[in-house]
Amino acid sequence: MIVTAKDLLIKARAGRYAIGAFNTSDLEITKGILEAALELKSPVIIETSEGEAHFEGYRVFVDSVRDMAEDLSVDVAINLDHGKSFESVKYAIESGYSSVHIDCSLLSKAENIAVTKKVVEFAHSRGVSVEGEFGHVGGSSEIHEGEQPQDGTLTDPQEAADYIKQTGVDIFAGSYGNIHGVYKNPPHLDIERIKKIAEESGLPLSLHGGSGIPDDQIKAAIQAGICKINVNTEIRKAYREALDKALRNKVAEIVPYKYMPEAINAVKEVVRQKISLFHA
Ligand code: 13P
Repeated sequence: MIVTAKDLLIKARAGRYAIGAFNTSDLEITKGILEAALELKSPVIIETSEGEAHFEGYRVFVDSVRDMAEDLSVDVAINLDHGKSFESVKYAIESGYSSVHIDCSLLSKAENIAVTKKVVEFAHSRGVSVEGEFGHVGGSSEIHEGEQPQDGTLTDPQEAADYIKQTGVDIFAGSYGNIHGVYKNPPHLDIERIKKIAEESGLPLSLHGGSGIPDDQIKAAIQAGICKINVNTEIRKAYREALDKALRNKVAEIVPYKYMPEAINAVKEVVRQKISLFHA
């Protein structure tokens, strides 16, 4: 059944576990994610960034997930990840997303609050839940050869509480030492900061940049109040490597459904591992 991310995260918060929010940009990755969730009987958030949605098509993505989820016995939330403007989020909602993330974290606090508030009013009037971000999470969902960039801005717990009060968001995404992508050195999450933000805000917290974070830090973050963990880079890497291997092993094969299953299985394996870790 299709639900909102808020529905899933309220339960996760009470149960001290996290829901995986997995990015997709095509039908094969979507299949891998949903099959893993079904196998583990776990609710799941499936999401696209604006770029991923433009590639696949907003409605193609939503319709395919709604179609597959009809046959599933697990709850699925369809989320727009890092929507950058009111117009973009509005388009996703009109296309059938059940949840949206508005990310104006690079704007001034006043501008961020103004756009987020407008998104909350529109989304709530259509039964869609909203994740807001304050404090910028840097990086990009790729494998990076170098050290982590220092372009993130750590979230101040009181500023976060003020942002939440003024906007009315349902889920809060902050910057607690996390960064998008995989780097030479793993990040060090500021667990105390997560705890303080969770206490001050009273909301389920979202952790972006879930790839490449050591398992012990993930577990500590969940205990501190993280209820949603976004994972993209590790899925992209597994998909690409498995596809390369399948094509190398079947050089003459031209039938997609004969070489794509290996890439789907690789996605499934990453999602399986993450879901198990997030519930541990
Ligand atoms: P990673 O690419 O580091 O897994 O982060 C994904 C993410 O946070 C999407 O919003």
